[in-house]
Amino acid sequence: MDQFNTRILCIRLGSSTHVIAVSSPDLACEFLKKQDEIFISRPDVLSDYLISDGYLTVAMAPFQEHWKKMKRIITRDILSSQIHKWLQPKRDIEADQLLRRIYKQIEKKDAIVDGGLISVRTVSQHFVANAMRNMIFGKRFFGQGMEDGGPGEEETEYVAAISTILKHLYTFCITDYFPWLRGKTDFDGHEKIMRTAIEILRKYQDPLVDDRIEMWNNGARKEKYDLLDVLINHENHKLTPEEIKAQIVELVIAAIDNPSHAVEWTIGEMIKEPMILKRAVKELDRVVGRQKLVEEQDIPQLNYIKACIKEAFRKPNVWADPLRFDPDRHIRDEGKQVVLSDNELRMVSFGTGKHRCPGRMLGTTMTTMLLARVVQGFEWEVPCNEGSIELVENYDDLCLSKPLLAIAKPRLPRYMYPEY
Ligand code: HEM
Repeated sequence: MDQFNTRILCIRLGSSTHVIAVSSPDLACEFLKKQDEIFISRPDVLSDYLISDGYLTVAMAPFQEHWKKMKRIITRDILSSQIHKWLQPKRDIEADQLLRRIYKQIEKKDAIVDGGLISVRTVSQHFVANAMRNMIFGKRFFGQGMEDGGPGEEETEYVAAISTILKHLYTFCITDYFPWLRGKTDFDGHEKIMRTAIEILRKYQDPLVDDRIEMWNNGARKEKYDLLDVLINHENHKLTPEEIKAQIVELVIAAIDNPSHAVEWTIGEMIKEPMILKRAVKELDRVVGRQKLVEEQDIPQLNYIKACIKEAFRKPNVWADPLRFDPDRHIRDEGKQVVLSDNELRMVSFGTGKHRCPGRMLGTTMTTMLLARVVQGFEWEVPCNEGSIELVENYDDLCLSKPLLAIAKPRLPRYMYPEY
């Protein structure tokens, strides 16, 4: 688009597919809000079809009655503020486990004083994945997990499969443009990769869904404890087992990578700008103190922490001096809450229009808690053998091209790191 000096471009691919690319927020809003009746249905692509098991889910279903049903269930019931509150104890467990796990990793390397090398991506992804698993299935792990609270091989395989699915969602697949070839050929291997990754998610999830349905049918389960119970017992619109299974696949794909990648970028930027990291720590010391761990109830007062996350979502062509990491640009009015969403699309956060992310509250909570806990619990530094942190975007998505490795040193007294 730079080459043609344009903000909107239409390309014809294959026999009948027109791809329209836009690179400015106002044009994107025109498509997603003003003309949404025309553009709301997503295109028929193989990756969507496979993930949603034939368009059963809210994000992928065409704009018809089924979409309306799923949208109502997801926004009003599954991701409502009431359910969000109900599930807080499960997220609290994971926020404690996050500190415990990083502390144990440092301790294992006998590096409490000098600090230990931590993969921010791995701890962040597993924080969100474990929290989601606990909220959906009422268990932190599919397998046994590790002794230090870390993920077992089942969890590692599961999270890797989610990353593979996201990597291939909407990437170029020849049969999307020549639909008559679908099912006859898999030239680029795209279909096999997607099917294998989806099978991995389903081999862990589906038996749990079947068992739970059976428990409700035979009376072994009488009370709701998690989102799976809510999905199974939805009264107004009964969901089929296939709809429940497909919707869970979509929820975990939508929920796990976004908060962890946002925090990975943010921590990376903060390590590069120690004064910003210091200000975030100062905010935590002022709002929470050092004798208590930051809790979800503190989030409304953590404006600087949220502004740091918001800065990691920004779009370069909208802001002045865009490459400078400057959280202050989001704190204009003293006393006004910083929110991570932006309906006008000046940043890539939760989208806008009818497909706007229904997980904004949960996404904001998990992302802010993740960043707040790791900043409160640890000092972060560049690894000794590297001169600086390199923050380079992948060429085909918005993630960091390499997982962020950084040195973490405990900054609170030992007794503040949960033992269980
Ligand atoms: C930092 C965290 C998150 C970010 C940045 C984020 C961002 C987004 C974006 C940009 C979209 C697409 C909007 C579009 O297609 O126009 C989306 C859709 C969606 N998100 Fe999120 N999300 C986050 C967390 C979550 C969480 C925690 C959940 C649920 C558990 C969730 C569930 C969904 C669903 C179901 C959709 C599809 C909605 C639809 O197409 O109607 N998201 N999200």
